[in-house]
Amino acid sequence: MNLKSYKKLFLKSLLNQYSKREIDSLFYILIDFYLGINRIKYIQNPMYLLSINNINLLDSKLKLIKNRMPIQYITGRVLHKKLTFYLNENVLIPRAETIELCNWIISDQKNKITILDIGTGSGLISIILKKYLDNSNVEAWDISIKALEIAKKNSLVNNLKINFNKVDVLKKIEINNKYDLIVSNPPYVDKSEIPNIDVSVSKFEPHSAIFVDGDDNLVFYKKIIEFSKVALNELGVLYLECHTDRIKSIKNLLKINNFKKIMIKEDLNGRERMIKAYK
Ligand SMILES: C[S@@+](CC[C@H](N)C(=O)[O-])C[C@H]1O[C@@H](n2cnc3c(N)ncnc32)[C@H](O)[C@@H]1O
Repeated sequence: MNLKSYKKLFLKSLLNQYSKREIDSLFYILIDFYLGINRIKYIQNPMYLLSINNINLLDSKLKLIKNRMPIQYITGRVLHKKLTFYLNENVLIPRAETIELCNWIISDQKNKITILDIGTGSGLISIILKKYLDNSNVEAWDISIKALEIAKKNSLVNNLKINFNKVDVLKKIEINNKYDLIVSNPPYVDKSEIPNIDVSVSKFEPHSAIFVDGDDNLVFYKKIIEFSKVALNELGVLYLECHTDRIKSIKNLLKINNFKKIMIKEDLNGRERMIKAYK
């Protein structure tokens, strides 16, 4: 079978689950990743003959896609500019809003600073900040040992030195270091929202990274703000990624805790998704 015929079958078997645009994008990611044939090469040679092994390999990935597994977990990695992030089911898939948060921080910060990333997951935030604010000292925490293993691997493959530690931010934390900048994208979704969440998220992504136990969906923000009040250096700054619906409450929490120059920022879709505030 040639690649063009396979593409037709691929499209047909996914049309009841995904849009044509999404299927196209999935197809090109797969053939690039597994066959080394990018979109341009495909257009130049759509009649490329697939071996039985090629077909079996693509079929096995198609089966995972039909089961709604995110493509990032299927290929096991994503790229951001010159950075590679390996992923597995223990870490959240990097989101565009989080990269926007990193870009906001990078555009604000010029000096050599000390940074703490709380709930680092794949290491996304700490690795991007260390790469583009390269004089800085970066520390990153997570409660999950398995997430920290992936984050460490990602810092190594990208040749960046970050100090990773297992810390439960909801417990009392001893303050051994002070920071110029603290950043976090903590869990903030209520467990009651699970039925409304896309199955590709609720079935495959780690619930401990997304959902908050108990009734208080602001619990992480409360703890991080309380901790940052003490752990930030004078004039230090806190950046938080937030759910749009909770951002006003988080602004209030920051005010109550005497943070200053509080600023909310919209993501590229015009939703208020991130906030910064100075000590
Ligand atoms: C929304 S994910 C963010 C991951 C990554 N920073 C990103 O933006 O892609 C939240 C992270 O917080 C971690 N986490 C959950 N509970 C925690 C706790 N009590 N203390 C520290 N980290 C925690 C999770 O393991 C997860 O990696």
